[in-house]
Amino acid sequence: MSLKAVIFDLDGVIVSTDECHYLAWKKIADDEGIYFDRAINERLRGVSRMESLEIVLERAEKEYSEEEKTKLAETKNGFYKEYIKSLTPNDILEGVMVNLEELKKNGIKVAIGSSSKNTPIILKQIGLDGYFDAVSDGNNISKSKPDPEVFLKAADMLGVAYADCMIVEDADAGIEAGKRAGMKTLAVNKAQGGDYAVPNLGKAKILDVVGK
Ligand code: BG6
Ligand code: MG
Repeated sequence: MSLKAVIFDLDGVIVSTDECHYLAWKKIADDEGIYFDRAINERLRGVSRMESLEIVLERAEKEYSEEEKTKLAETKNGFYKEYIKSLTPNDILEGVMVNLEELKKNGIKVAIGSSSKNTPIILKQIGLDGYFDAVSDGNNISKSKPDPEVFLKAADMLGVAYADCMIVEDADAGIEAGKRAGMKTLAVNKAQGGDYAVPNLGKAKILDVVGK
């Protein structure tokens, strides 16, 4: 296969912020008296903040106005930002740096493709701001995964053809987005349906997995 760029999801692939998202949503749900558990939380992977809120509110007993929804999303983000303040470079997941360095050494571009509007803050916290050849995130898209927009924009920023890109994802919504973008897909953790799959990047070298 021709591989010129690898586009990484951020939350759950580069860094384990997924627990911070869970705790912040759990606090919102508890405060509102809405049932929320880890199984429901799995459905929020890769999905934008407002769409995540809609999923959390599926179990609510009352209807929320648009104004109330905006307020809840803001409050959740406030909790989340408190949690991610403690992130450091030590929170970069196992195998990530080895893989990134190897890709770069082989002339393969690396980018971020994340639904999160907090991407710039997180990259800074973990010491990777300025590291990637392109960063496409929740701040420059209008449709979140499974729409392919975030990955298409990353490839456009890199100037690489979509067919020469591979995405790395921990969310089913992200794998679907990668497929719709016409890119190769590598699933990590529990994500389903990828062209390739590994339990985590500590267990595999991306270039070996794709046979390069
Ligand atoms: C994704 C997470 O990366 O970003 C989702 O997997 C999250 O769970 C989404 O909802 C949006 O994040 P943020 O930081 O903009 O609220
Ligand atoms: Mg993710």
